[in-house]
Amino acid sequence: MIHENFLRPLLFRLPAETAHEWSMRALSFALRGEASRAFVRRQLIQDYRETYGDIYGSIERFGLKFDNPVGLAAGFDKNGEHAAALAALGFGFIETGTVTRLAQDGNPRPRLFRLPDDAALINRQGFNNKGAPALVAHLKRDRPACVLGVNIGKSRVTPIDEAVADYVASFESVRSVADYVAINVSSPNTPNLRDLQRPEALDELLAAIQRSNHQLAARDETKPLPVLVKVAPDLDDAALEMIVDVARRNRLAGIIATNTTVARDDLKTPRAAVEACGAGGLSGAPLRRRSTEIIRRLYTLAQGSLVIIGVGGVFTGRDAWDKISAGASLVQLYTGFVYGGVRVVQRINEDLSGILRERGVRSLDEAVGCQANIAHRTL
Ligand SMILES: Cc1cc2nc3c(=O)[nH]c(=O)nc-3n(C[C@H](O)[C@H](O)[C@H](O)COP(=O)(O)O)c2cc1C
Repeated sequence: MIHENFLRPLLFRLPAETAHEWSMRALSFALRGEASRAFVRRQLIQDYRETYGDIYGSIERFGLKFDNPVGLAAGFDKNGEHAAALAALGFGFIETGTVTRLAQDGNPRPRLFRLPDDAALINRQGFNNKGAPALVAHLKRDRPACVLGVNIGKSRVTPIDEAVADYVASFESVRSVADYVAINVSSPNTPNLRDLQRPEALDELLAAIQRSNHQLAARDETKPLPVLVKVAPDLDDAALEMIVDVARRNRLAGIIATNTTVARDDLKTPRAAVEACGAGGLSGAPLRRRSTEIIRRLYTLAQGSLVIIGVGGVFTGRDAWDKISAGASLVQLYTGFVYGGVRVVQRINEDLSGILRERGVRSLDEAVGCQANIAHRTL
C-alpha cells in the first residue's frame, strides 16, 4: 500500500533510471548492517511461512538449495552492489549482472522508459556495468543471504567473432563468487548478440565455457558450476528445439526463459508514445503470455533434462503459478518488482503458497510442469 500510494508516485516522477539508482542506494543504506538484513528477511519469510508452513518442501535445483522459488532477474543489480540488501526482501535467489569482461558505459541516457498503462518497461541500457572483476570484488565483501547467480555477456568492443574468448574470460573471473552462471545471448541491446543463439555459434560458446568450467573445477578439486543459458522470447519452435539440443549436448544445468522482447504488439500505451521511447526490449505484463508459452515448449522439448527458470511478466502469485505449472522450476522478476515494490516477493510467495494449498499440491516439485502434459518432469 505504501508503495502504491506514496513511494511509487514519487519515484515515477523521476526519470526511470534515476529512480532506480536512488531507491537502490536508499535500500542499501537502510539495510547496511547484517543484523538488520537478517531481521527483515526473517520477518518477510516468516509472514507467509506462518500461514502456509513449509508448503514448498525442499527446493533443490542443480545441486543448490533455494529457500523459495522467487528470484530477482538479471539487470537489476548489474554490479552486485546491492545484492545483500536485496536478499533481505525475501528473494530465493538473486541473479546479478549482466557483467562483461570490460567495464562499459552502455548506451546514452535516457535508455529506460516506463509504460504504466501496460505495466511494462522498455530499455536499451546495453550492459552498462563496471566489469566482471569489480562485481567479484564487491560480492566477495558482501554476499547475499540466498543463492547467487552471475549473468555474463559480451563486451561491446569485442567483435562478435571473438565473443567466445570474451565470455570465457568473464566466466573465469566470476566463478569464484557465483553459485551458478547465466550466459546471456539474448539481450536485444548489444548489436549481433542474439546471433549467438544460432546452433553452431551457441555450441561453440557453451562448449568453451564448459571446458573451462570442468578444467578449473578439476584443478581446484571442486565441482563444476551449474551453467544456464538465457534465451529471447522472439524465437520460433525450430530455434527452441535446437537450443535445447545444444544445451543438453553441453550438459547445461538449465535455460532461463525469457529476456525482453523486440515485439510491441497490442499495447495500451498510444503508439506515438511507444515510438518516442525508441529502440529497446519490452518487459513486464505484455511479455507474460509469450514467455510462459516458451517455457511450456522448452519443458516439453527438454523432457526432464534441463531446469527452466521462468521470467517475463511475473507480478503475482498467479503469474508465478502459471509459469511453474507450465514447466518452470523457479521464477524471476524485474518489472514486477519495479511496479510492485519491496513487499512484492513476500506477496508472490504468499499467494503462490495459497494456490498450492487450494489445489491440493503437496510441494513445489509436484507443481512443476503439472499443466505441461508430458510424461517426464524435471525439477
Ligand atoms: C531495465 C532492464 C534491464 C535489464 N538488464 C538485463 C541484463 O543486463 N541482463 C539480462 O539477462 N536481462 C536483463 N533484463 C531482462 C530481465 O532480466 C528479464 O529477463 C525481463 O525483463 C523479463 O522479465 P520481467 O517482465 O519480469 O521484467 C533487463 C530488463 C530490464 C527491464
